[in-house]
Amino acid sequence: MRQKFIIGNWKMHTNADEAGRLAKAIAVGVGTEDRVCVAVCPPFPYLALVASNLKGSSVALGAQNLYPEKEGAFTGEVSPTMLLDLGCKFVILGHSERRQKLGESNGFINQKVHVALDAGLNVILCVGETLEQREANQTTEVLEQQIILGLAALSADSLPRLSIAYEPIWAIGNTGHHATPEQAEMEHIVIRKRLAQMFGKPAQSVVIQYGGSVKPENAAALLSQPNVDGALIGGASLKAEQFLAIVQVAIKQTQTDVKAK
Ligand code: PGA
Repeated sequence: MRQKFIIGNWKMHTNADEAGRLAKAIAVGVGTEDRVCVAVCPPFPYLALVASNLKGSSVALGAQNLYPEKEGAFTGEVSPTMLLDLGCKFVILGHSERRQKLGESNGFINQKVHVALDAGLNVILCVGETLEQREANQTTEVLEQQIILGLAALSADSLPRLSIAYEPIWAIGNTGHHATPEQAEMEHIVIRKRLAQMFGKPAQSVVIQYGGSVKPENAAALLSQPNVDGALIGGASLKAEQFLAIVQVAIKQTQTDVKAK
């Protein structure tokens, strides 16, 4: 059984005071719960503050990006070693906002995936199609390309530290849309099949999270799908009570899964 992942992506939100309080509230709410894997990914400047406020809880720290070099003349960039130094366990790579707004290519994302895994970080690789691609029936092709190119030259040994986040771009943020549980399940199967073609049996253990307007109200239906192993949450991760409510849904689903086994 795959452990459920509930990850908060704070994007470029919060100030120091808000980040500190949000982290504290989440740490208190989650406590030492370990049936699900919970992590928060604050903006770079607040990583240290959030790390200290998460201490004593089982909530892990993640970053939203990195630069694929250990160190050097890369003005404004942040290395995997720096993230590890601050206590990060996870890094989100290939988020659609970076692909679209900053022009990140699959090749560049692939470099980041390698460097992050080599450094010892757990990678959350985001993939997802635009509305135009979905309407043109290109979703499968887009997802497969992002997986094939994003994970090129990766060995199956790295899979335990890799998770995928399926984030249909048309469902992210305040678009008023989220994928139906059936749509999410269908695309997660596409992703898992492709992973199986690339890596064989270990692909069955890879966590595939869904992201795109996950809220306490829709979390149960999404997480009850057999291949939806967690959620990558933007907006609702900025409100402790909403994020914690989704964590509770994941715990409940885990209990149901255990019983069904
Ligand atoms: P959302 O963002 O939950 O606000 O839709 C998800 C994401 O972009 O990771």
